[in-house]
Amino acid sequence: MSLTPAELMTLRPGTRMAKGHTVIAGLGLGHQLIEVAKRLPVKRVTVVELDRELADWIMPVIQPHIRKTVDVIIGDAYEVIPKLTANVALIDIFPGYGDGFRRVEELRRASPKIKKFWGWGTSEMTGKAQR
Ligand SMILES: C[S@@+](CC[C@H](N)C(=O)[O-])C[C@H]1O[C@@H](n2cnc3c(N)ncnc32)[C@H](O)[C@@H]1O
Repeated sequence: MSLTPAELMTLRPGTRMAKGHTVIAGLGLGHQLIEVAKRLPVKRVTVVELDRELADWIMPVIQPHIRKTVDVIIGDAYEVIPKLTANVALIDIFPGYGDGFRRVEELRRASPKIKKFWGWGTSEMTGKAQR
């Protein structure tokens, strides 16, 4: 997790997909949340984050700059996201490149009430469009 220009660039393809009710997993330093919340087509955001301490620290800093409804769910994205209904889910919970594409595909299959998925590193790795 960092705010280097290279890392921020890798988040942009997902951020551009955000609309309606968008789910973001995980929170990190909140960059993607801020960028997603700026988008006009986005009406509300649900953040799923494993680390309560991180969320308790960073959300009060970010929240005053966001003019959209943001709900934070503390929990494991693999358990929480399949229960949610949303237009888009943006998944950035991976420690690095690896099996992200497979994990996102599993989440997509387990989450019939979420229309589109994007996962960090997956579109860049494969060139395949995310559904
Ligand atoms: C790389 S950071 C996300 C960076 C974020 N996109 C940003 O804009 O700053 C990964 C985040 O995912 C969280 N995380 C890791 N595994 C998770 C899981 N299974 N469920 C939910 N959050 C998880 C970590 O605690 C961390 O906050």
